[in-house]
Amino acid sequence: MFSGVQPTGKLHLGNYLGAIQNWVELQKEFKCIFCIVDLHAITVPDNRKDLKKNSLEVAAAYIASGIDPKKNIIFCQSGVSGHSELSWILSCFAPMGWLNRMTQFKDKAGKNKEKAPLGLYSYPVLMAADILLYQSTHVPVGEDQKQHLELCRDIAQAFNRFNNINFFPIPEPVIMGSATRVMSLKNGLNKMSKSDPSDLSRINLLDSAELIKKKIQKSKTDSGSFPENDQHLSGRPEVENLINIFCSFSRENRQYVYRKYSGKTFSEFKNDLAKILSDEFSIISKKAKELINETDYLENVLEEGAIRANEIAEKNIKEIKKIMGFK
Ligand code: AMP
Ligand code: TRP
Repeated sequence: MFSGVQPTGKLHLGNYLGAIQNWVELQKEFKCIFCIVDLHAITVPDNRKDLKKNSLEVAAAYIASGIDPKKNIIFCQSGVSGHSELSWILSCFAPMGWLNRMTQFKDKAGKNKEKAPLGLYSYPVLMAADILLYQSTHVPVGEDQKQHLELCRDIAQAFNRFNNINFFPIPEPVIMGSATRVMSLKNGLNKMSKSDPSDLSRINLLDSAELIKKKIQKSKTDSGSFPENDQHLSGRPEVENLINIFCSFSRENRQYVYRKYSGKTFSEFKNDLAKILSDEFSIISKKAKELINETDYLENVLEEGAIRANEIAEKNIKEIKKIMGFK
């Protein structure tokens, strides 16, 4: 199993519920590789600052959330050259027509595509290389990465087909949990994201319990009453988002939430939500803050991880070059 997060500063609730919380469960079942995708981060100029500090922060967040660095491989993408090498080879199997469909590129490039870096355009090919380099079979991600994973499957098939070989397994996306797409606390139509200018729109991993409470209390709802069933959620994205977050932390389903809160006020619901959220999140946050100061330990984990990842990567790159017919 392979997954990754970009070291772009400020991990938030979306990263936790969409990805990391699920990894903690999956590590029990799979051999896992958790990558800090720093080569992806540099596709956006702003993210080229503080790469090292941000990478250590992601490593601290992984470990604080419960990922075991002994059992799993945790490493930085730039420490294993096979990612870039395979990315080039795979780019030769990826028609531009496929890449032109990627909605994340369109969103990130904005109106002026001529000025967008080539790396931002080929970002999904590097992502396919990350996954296929380890012959991964399962990739847990948030909903927003589904399209990139479909492209990865297409590229794997194109490579296998052209070379008439079954080398790359076709990886399965694993999109699990009650909050696969966590929305902004201020506008239920926007994804929670670190680039939103309003800090009140998101819950950051390192926010204090008090700040988490304040953000939940101030989060947007609407003037309707507390919903009693799924039909009452229609057209109410902010309410749906808060209920999904509640379900993720309480490990309960929506029916439970409807039974418990129908007839009550949003303020009561928000009090309870703030409590369960900050109970789990502030423990992780506290651990992460402690770990961030243990630079030597974190660097050791990443170095050790890169050595283990390289062992697999080098073997596979050799094989891939042989398949391609390079001398
Ligand atoms: P990124 O920060 O873009 O590197 O994302 C890392 C992981 O977090 C990916 O698996 C994303 O799908 C997931 N993720 C990011 N934002 C959200 C969100 N708002 N809701 C759910 N998952 C998210
Ligand atoms: N593109 C992913 C994101 O922004 C991060 C990522 C890079 C990734 N390589 C990956 C996720 C490989 C899963 C597998 O969220």
